[in-house]
Amino acid sequence: MAIGRMEEVPAVEGFIRLCTDGWEQGWHERNGGNLTYRMKKEDVDAARPFFDETPRPWVNMGVQADNLAGEYFITTGSGRFMRNVQLDAAANIGIVEINDKGDSWRIVWGLGNGARPTSEFPSHFMNHSVRKEVTGGANRVIYHCHPANIIALTFILPLDDKTFSRVLWQSMTECPVIFPEGVGVVPWMVPGGPEIAQATSRLMKKYQAAVWAHHGIFVSGPDFDTAFGLAHTIEKSAEIYVKILSTGRPILQTITDEDLLAIEPSFHITLNREFLN
Ligand code: 13P
Ligand code: ZN
Repeated sequence: MAIGRMEEVPAVEGFIRLCTDGWEQGWHERNGGNLTYRMKKEDVDAARPFFDETPRPWVNMGVQADNLAGEYFITTGSGRFMRNVQLDAAANIGIVEINDKGDSWRIVWGLGNGARPTSEFPSHFMNHSVRKEVTGGANRVIYHCHPANIIALTFILPLDDKTFSRVLWQSMTECPVIFPEGVGVVPWMVPGGPEIAQATSRLMKKYQAAVWAHHGIFVSGPDFDTAFGLAHTIEKSAEIYVKILSTGRPILQTITDEDLLAIEPSFHITLNREFLN
């Protein structure tokens, strides 16, 4: 059947579904969190009939990436609420085109009533650039959310990659399989600024996910399911660890480094050796 509306374009449909899923998890109070998707050629072809007749003016981003010149992104709007995306996509999300210098965007659809791409667009953009490069073009999704348990852990654990990676690996058996390289940790920084964009993109050369202290998580993936699943896994593992601590009881046993290594052959993974003792 022919596609009649932008919301029926499969990439847009998947984007909207993730926004709703994240809202239902409780990770998006008010306008908290944001999502971007680097569109495939077939996504752009399917969406183009619904683009505005005249694109809006170019806006310089303050960041630049050669490998994203000419790309199209679906993005949530700054100050827009994830819970409203399913009700009115055109008012709360939009599609932007990147210019041939890779330093500016212009809106070609959506982001109605004067909305702009998320304030974290520079962070998303720089991380898309890094993840596109290190995954040979496979990565397409960057997702930022505010899940309570992983945020809570940033108040009581030292803010280093090894501590967070080990706590998450050891709190739920599937974690090392899903992120064998571990996770990165960014200290508290001003949201939406160039510093958090740069600090995160340095970490995303090595990791699929970064924890933002006292703020949330930032994850990447080849598709919506994988990126959402990564955020879900990290938050669930953090929740288990918070529950363990809340009992006030000593930890009698955990997944040992030997156990972690024993997972490797069956799942064809290699754990980050820096995080094993
Ligand atoms: P935006 O509404 O601009 O996307 O900002 C929300 C947020 O979570 C900032 O980190
Ligand atoms: Zn945020």
